[in-house]
Parts: sequence; C-alpha cells; structure tokens
Amino acid sequence: MPPESAQSGDPKAVLVEKLKLAQGFLSGTKLSQELGMSRQTLRTHLAALRNKGYRIRAVPRRGYLLEYAPDKLYPWEIAPFLPRFSATQQYHYSEDTDSTQNTLIALGIAGAGEGTLVAAEEQTKGRGRLGRTWLSRHGGLYFSLLLRPDFLPLARASQLSLMLGCACIRGIRTATGIQCESKWPNDLFLSGKKVGGILSEAAAEADSIQFLAAGIGLNVNIPHRELPREATSLAKEYGRDCSRSRLLRHIIREIHAWYSILRTDGFEPIRACWEEHCFLWGTRVKITLPHTVREGTAHGIDKQGFFLLRTDQGLIESYSAGDITSVRY
Ligand code: BTN
Repeated sequence: MPPESAQSGDPKAVLVEKLKLAQGFLSGTKLSQELGMSRQTLRTHLAALRNKGYRIRAVPRRGYLLEYAPDKLYPWEIAPFLPRFSATQQYHYSEDTDSTQNTLIALGIAGAGEGTLVAAEEQTKGRGRLGRTWLSRHGGLYFSLLLRPDFLPLARASQLSLMLGCACIRGIRTATGIQCESKWPNDLFLSGKKVGGILSEAAAEADSIQFLAAGIGLNVNIPHRELPREATSLAKEYGRDCSRSRLLRHIIREIHAWYSILRTDGFEPIRACWEEHCFLWGTRVKITLPHTVREGTAHGIDKQGFFLLRTDQGLIESYSAGDITSVRY
C-alpha cells in the first residue's frame, strides 16, 4: 500500500477533532461555517472518513454524530498533534510496509528533516536488535523517528537509546496509566515480560552522527495467543484495548521533551530515570558479548550510560553494549 503523508492543515484533522469533542449532533451548517468550506466539500470529507472506517450518522435537521472512530494512525489523527522538531519534519503513514526503519533510513539519507516520523499498522519484515525479527502483527505500534543530534558525538550515541527508553516509559504512563519497567539497554518490560523494544541505528561520518533512526515497537493490542510466551501486551495488563494513536502522540511528545533535556542538561536526568525504572538492579544477571559471557550482579549505569556489573570478586566492570539475561537458580 502506498504511504500517505500528512498534508499541512488537512481539514479532516479539525473535522475529526470537532466530531470527537462534540457532546451530541453537530449541525452541518455550523460545521461547514467553522471549517470554512461548502456543505458539498464537507460531505466529501465525511464520505472520505466513512471510507476509512469512521461511522458518522447523518440526521436531517440535527446534523452529524460520530458513533465510532477506528484506532488507526492516519495522518490527520497524528500529524497535527506532533511537537515540532524541525520545520521540515514529515509524517509518513502506511497500512503495511516491510519495516518503518528501512523507510526512515531511506528518508534520512535523502535529507528528511529532524522529527520525520514513519508509522505503519503492520510490518512484514520488522527488525529487532542483534539481527532478530520483530513480530509486527496488527494491533501493535510500530514507528521510526528521525533525529539529527548535532550536539552529540558518536561516542555518546547509546545515550540516545537510553533517552528513548525513558520517553517510552513516561509516554506509556501518561497515555494509559500503565507503569512499565526498563531492561538495559533497549527493552520495555511489564509484569516480568517484554512488552516493547527500541532499535537505534545511527548513520555516522567520522565521529559525528548524521542521523539516528529510532525504531520503536510496542505490543499494544496484539491478542495474547499470538505473542511468544516470554512477551506480553499493554492490553493484557490494562484489561482492555489501549488507543495506539494516543500512545504514539504521547510517546513522541515525551521523546521531544527528553531529547531537549539531553541537549541542555546532559545525560544525568536520563541516568536517574533509568535508576528508577530498570528492574535489574541488585539481581543476578548474565551479559552476553560477542566472544564471552560474564555473570554477576546488576549494579547500575554510569554517567556515560554504560552497564555496571559487580563480579563475584567485588569488582565493578562496565559495558557499553551487550545482551542481558536474568539468571534464576
Ligand atoms: C528489539 O527489542 O529488538 C527492538 C525492536 C524494535 C522494533 C521496531 S518496530 C518499528 C521499527 N521498525 C523495525 O523494523 N523495527 C523497529
């Protein structure tokens, strides 16, 4: 399916918001006046929305009533609510794609503005860390965001990943009230199971970051039976489906806020957020590295964002990358 891009000032955005906020029927005359369009143009937009799954009742002399809105990441549901990273940011949406990450990287290479966001309802080749695949069925949230952190040297790129983890935790809490936890360096957990992951891929030149493709996947409303045993979904913990469009808006807002914290105050507030939300501290873990596996107690993260492992000999070792697993006896 071809991607749809957000049109600035798409009247459907205002129309949908008005219908959603209305306490009852909205008069057609009033609506067309407020939107500055003819009754015929209004009817065309309403028909387009119905085609996209919105159920809008029309009753002569009473007007229009929104009975149902699909929880889709349509441009008019997302783009007008995004914070401004740059004047040239864009929003690209598609029903399905191979990977939002691939699309975003191509856009990044072509010079897309910071804050450009790619989202899809499903991915056929969702990618995870360490070459794994990412299950991307309908009901999950899959998106990639372009950052151009000119204030950060390449050596500090991993701090961006940790910043994204904080932003996701806060965004999920604001949107749903659910408190997730983090597992260094890129996992989001809920009730001891993985609920989401972050894939950060940087395009670099010498020691500077040209752009970072921040890919985030969240199991939001995926039916439990479709998830692997070691994974869970927000809906399972919440007891009902969560709005994915609300989640996306809040997570992006939090990324915007935490990104500017990183820019102005440095890494310390992010380190503190990790101290608070990572469930590993004080537990027995294994860290798997390309050529070795080390075991010890998860001690914390240092001021660069590196993982600190306390060995059984009482030494503190620090790791900039690796895969952590909990050790249970
Ligand atoms: C992980 O835990 O391994 C990271 C998973 C990241 C998945 C997201 S979904 C959106 C974006 N597109 C991809 O292909 N991958 C990331």
